[in-house]
Amino acid sequence: GKGGYDHYMLKEIHEQPTSLRQTLRGRADPATGDIALEDFPPGTFEEISRVQFVACGTSYHAGLVGSHFIGSRGLPAQTFLASEYAVSAPPVDENTLVVGVTQSGETADTLSALRRAEAGGARTLAVTNVVGSTAARECDDAMFIRAGPEIGVAATKTFSSQVVSLSLLGERLVRDVVGRRSDDTQDVLSALADLPDHVQRILDYTKAHRVAKRYRDSDSYFFIGRGSVFPVALEGALKFKEISYEHAEGFAAGELKHGPLALVTPATPVFAVFTGRHDRKTLSNMKEVEARGAPVVAVASETNEEIVQYADDVLTIPDTHPDVAGILANVQLQLLSYHAAAQLDRPIDKPRNLAKSVTVE
Ligand code: M6R
Repeated sequence: GKGGYDHYMLKEIHEQPTSLRQTLRGRADPATGDIALEDFPPGTFEEISRVQFVACGTSYHAGLVGSHFIGSRGLPAQTFLASEYAVSAPPVDENTLVVGVTQSGETADTLSALRRAEAGGARTLAVTNVVGSTAARECDDAMFIRAGPEIGVAATKTFSSQVVSLSLLGERLVRDVVGRRSDDTQDVLSALADLPDHVQRILDYTKAHRVAKRYRDSDSYFFIGRGSVFPVALEGALKFKEISYEHAEGFAAGELKHGPLALVTPATPVFAVFTGRHDRKTLSNMKEVEARGAPVVAVASETNEEIVQYADDVLTIPDTHPDVAGILANVQLQLLSYHAAAQLDRPIDKPRNLAKSVTVE
């Protein structure tokens, strides 16, 4: 059942402290920096020279976070929309690891991208929530995200657990291939260990319902982010349109002035995601939209006074490592979408035209 919540989506958002603890359990020790992934002992990926992620929807956004994490630590990595992978035909060889990110393990586009990679001679790995799923069975290897069953069509707790899983897998890959721990390994692992408590704090003090109400009569909703949170901007917009049926778009913060700024008016609130890294640049993008009269809602650390001062509203997140901040920001955006859709009386767990698992190409 829904455990006292009005919707599975809200229940699953609130389950994240628990699901994240399950994802992390026994896999990382911040004190020593050790990473213990059941099927992937040190050296597992020594032969790998590059990584490609294939996925759809929310899982694609998790893949984008994963390739940013790995790529910025020295291992070439890219993320592809699974439905585009076949037609964009990236080269693969036996030193390529192709990672299918799929909550259900049954998404047809992702399965066919993985089959194509396999036929090209790549090594394949499924990152999935479902033991015994087609992706888990067909790939050379599988890593389980252990989020527990997700009923709501909107993916919430599985996104957080995917990003955590890809960070741990990413650390393993970087150590095996680059040959040493990344410089900030221990900081990342302690930020991950703190994540369940940090998410709980957001759930306890969020103002997302008030922000959703304040902007409920807007024409359109824009989300911007840079670097590790560009994918969070995309995910914020996907969730918003999926369950509220309001128009929403996510942009790389730096791209606004290359076109989308033409759409910005006082009736288009802009949600800007900050991580503590590259904030100065995103702050100037925030000022660009403010100059056009758009309200700006910052999703940022409560301790960043300059951002707090400039924004019309702030959805705050606890201070953490910049590569982990996106998971926290995304929880605030999940709540924003949920409350916007609830205030519009949408059928949140079963949005029109959508299915939980998309088994046709
Ligand atoms: O099961 P998968 O992770 O492969 O599903 C991929 C997408 O269909 C899925 O993430 C979809 O975008 C969600 N409904 C978004 O909330």
